[in-house]
Amino acid sequence: MFTQETIERLRSVQTPYYYYDTDMLRETLAVASGEAANKGFKVHYAVKANFNPVIMKIIAGYGLGADCVSSNEIEHAISCGFPAEETVFAGVGKSDREIETALRLGIKCFNVESAAELEVIDGIAGRMGKTASVALRINPNVEAHTIRHITTGTDENKFGIRIVELESVISTLNELNNIKYRGIHFHIGSQITDLHVFRNLSSRINELWQWLTDRGMEPDDINVGGGLGVNYDDPDRFPPFADYFDIFREHLDNRIRSSVSFELGRSLTANCGSLISTVLFVKPGAGETFLILDAGMTDLMRPALYHAYHRIENLTSKLPAKKYTVAGPICETTDTFGRFISLPETGRGDLIAIRSAGAYGEVMASRYNMRSLPPSVFSDEIN
Ligand code: LLP
Repeated sequence: MFTQETIERLRSVQTPYYYYDTDMLRETLAVASGEAANKGFKVHYAVKANFNPVIMKIIAGYGLGADCVSSNEIEHAISCGFPAEETVFAGVGKSDREIETALRLGIKCFNVESAAELEVIDGIAGRMGKTASVALRINPNVEAHTIRHITTGTDENKFGIRIVELESVISTLNELNNIKYRGIHFHIGSQITDLHVFRNLSSRINELWQWLTDRGMEPDDINVGGGLGVNYDDPDRFPPFADYFDIFREHLDNRIRSSVSFELGRSLTANCGSLISTVLFVKPGAGETFLILDAGMTDLMRPALYHAYHRIENLTSKLPAKKYTVAGPICETTDTFGRFISLPETGRGDLIAIRSAGAYGEVMASRYNMRSLPPSVFSDEIN
């Protein structure tokens, strides 16, 4: 990803910033969309992972739909080239204004989380003279074996309709005049690297499909959500798209005639992005040496928020390795990117890359300490 020539060019840009390797993004998209198409699956891009317009336009060019969680995301996705009729709207708390916007723009489907939400959408659609297509987001109570903070599909989470409530939600749905039932939706968590989890999800989907079909509610579409993890230790390795899609092809009941769709975020954009930063100070501590960067948790929040690991590389030193604690300039102790990390001996002015930051990086940046939001730089601009 970083040739000597690229590093020279990166040096001339004011840090901190996000650097995106657009060739890597395109390769990832080609593999993911090719593997999905081979198996007859449809992929929506989970816009929340990265809504940078340059990235979004590239992704739209591969024919993906969009998975949005706010009306701002819907408007933005459409303006970046995603078709409204391939855009779905998920989220546990959609406001009336957002529902109106989505109906006005003619999106494909609302992923609905409760009977109360169905009634609200029905009322708004009725007033607007429209019919709203919906999928029921079911909480399948399947453990995702990932970071607890990003698990979404078990009984202790706020997301989805619990299986025990399904019967009553369906009877509400069947009484509403401005709602069209399209199918069912799941999303059990993110950064899932144990692919067996998706086998368990497939089994649960088979049971639910049978249960719904027995009640005359066979879904037209089954949306299995996102969650495919990336290898944060090895940022240049592609996520295992083929194995992932194979699991669903093999384990979903072959009597199912519904279309099957996915909502991938992290696996499409994480690898292509790095946060580029300069070392401001090398500061001795008690039993450790701090590298103080000009990038902090305001630029990349994941390590501070979830103790998430990102590989850190020194792009400009080739000296023998030493151990460092890599921290940012923010007035918070959690503003640390990694402790006791092995890096070539590092000095003030060295250029640091924090890898696999293309998903849930730039989009989660904040202005805490009145910092500027990090800008973005693209490989095809500088190479
Ligand atoms: N669909 C739904 C309904 C979701 O809630 C999410 C992510 C996705 C799809 C995309 O999941 P992915 O393929 O990216 O795993 N900020 C956290 C991740 C939060 C994920 C939220 N939902 C992080 O930095 O790890």
